[in-house]
Parts: sequence; structure tokens; C-alpha cells
Amino acid sequence: MNAPSSSPDKPLDPRDRLIVALDVTDPAAARTLVNRLGDSVSFYKIGMELAYGGGLPFASELLKEGKKVFLDLKLHDIATTVSNAVAQVARLGVHFLTVHAYPQTLDAARRGAVGSPLKILGVSVLTSYDDADLAEAGYAYSVADLVARRALQAREAGVDGLVLSAAEAAAIRSQLGSDLILVTPGIRPRGTSAKDQKRVATPSLAIAAGADHLVVGRPITVAPDPKGAADQIVAEIEATLASMAPPPDKP
Ligand code: C5P
Repeated sequence: MNAPSSSPDKPLDPRDRLIVALDVTDPAAARTLVNRLGDSVSFYKIGMELAYGGGLPFASELLKEGKKVFLDLKLHDIATTVSNAVAQVARLGVHFLTVHAYPQTLDAARRGAVGSPLKILGVSVLTSYDDADLAEAGYAYSVADLVARRALQAREAGVDGLVLSAAEAAAIRSQLGSDLILVTPGIRPRGTSAKDQKRVATPSLAIAAGADHLVVGRPITVAPDPKGAADQIVAEIEATLASMAPPPDKP
């Protein structure tokens, strides 16, 4: 397993903790957004809608510009297919890739990434799902219990991290320590709308709950001033980390 990005000997830059979701349908729109955000953002997420519209060559462009890239493809298929697909993604040189957190899929993804620096994140339960949605889909678990089960399975499979909501992050952090990189979408700064997300939290709550990276889409991408919105979130992350730092040793 790769070292978690939050290892105590190598603290993450607060700016690298913010991952902006480029949820647009074509690379030209993504380029406009990236240019507007400039140095304020170092880490981007390319999801299915952009990936299927020319987003993979765009990921390579971002990498050449020194940005970090998270490919959120949420893979889930038979093991051979997942393993081979992950090996192809690893060749792109991106930093994070998601697969759904089913034991066979996690194990296949880890095998596909062997020998590359690609980090595999298991998607525990989508942040647009609540307990009623899980029951409707046929699960006999609450969100909290299913996330906890999938966190253990992700660690067992030897993948690098887990995507979960801030509501579950504190419990998983105390259960697993720093064994997994925790990535939380469903981030809503104070005063922004939840839209289709059900398990939402402010940047400060997510960091306090132990998240390593926050995925933020619409609160930045559709803001009147995306760069200002990103800077404000990074400032909130920094302030929260500072308030959590242990007090200096007494003489
Ligand atoms: O616009 P918003 O901030 O809601 O975007 C959240 C992003 O995080 C979207 O790109 C979505 O696909 C992604 N995501 C999520 N829940 C997960 C995994 C990924 O919302 N469990």
C-alpha cells in the first residue's frame, strides 16, 4: 500500500487538501475554469461527464502544468476488467482513481495499480444517499454501518483511501487511524445550497472530522467569483488546522 497522503512526517499543504470537481461536459469549459482559478487550486477532479467528453487528454494537460489529478471514474466490474482498466489509468500518471468499495473490486484495483504511484480510493456510500435510499436499494445497513464495513474492507484489500461524507469521517478516523486517506465530497460552505447532496458539511467540519481532502464542485464552479470561493475554502481549511494543532510544549 502507498503511504497515506496525510502521514505525520509529510503534512499536506492546505491548498492540496482542496480538490475542485471539474463537473463540466467538455475540455474547453474545464480549461476556462482552470484558467480562472489559476494558482488558487492545485488539485482537480475529473469525473465521468468530463472523462467521456475528452477529459483524459485534458487530464494529461493538467499534469503537464503541475496540477494533481483525481480521476473519479467509480469503476465496478468483474475483477479482470477492473484490474486491466486500472493499469491503463495508472499509465496516465494521475494521482487518485475511484472504484466502488466492493471487496472484489477493491482487490482487483489494487492489483492493477501495483508498481505505479496511482492511489486507489474506494467509494463507500455516495453522499447523495441516506438510510432510506440504501433500504430502497436493498441494503440492510444504515449509511454509518455500511461505510464502517466498507472502510474495514478497503483496509483489508490494501487500497489507499476511502471516499465518504464528513458525517462518517470522525468515526472512521478513530477506528482506522491514518491507515486510509479520507476524501469527503458533499462540502457546502455556510450559505451555499445542498442541491442533490444529502450528507453535507462545511469545510471546517470536514477537516475537524479528520478528512485529508475535500472535494468541492458547485460551491466553487458556479460561484460568481470561483477563485475567491476557492481561496475562502483554503483559508477555512488553514484556520481549522491551526485551531486543531497541539499547543506548543511548556518549558
Ligand atoms: O457540486 P458538488 O460539490 O456537490 O460535487 C461533488 C462532487 O463529488 C461530484 O463530482 C460528485 O460526483 C462527487 N462525489 C460525491 N459523492 C461521492 C463521491 C463523489 O458527491 N460519494
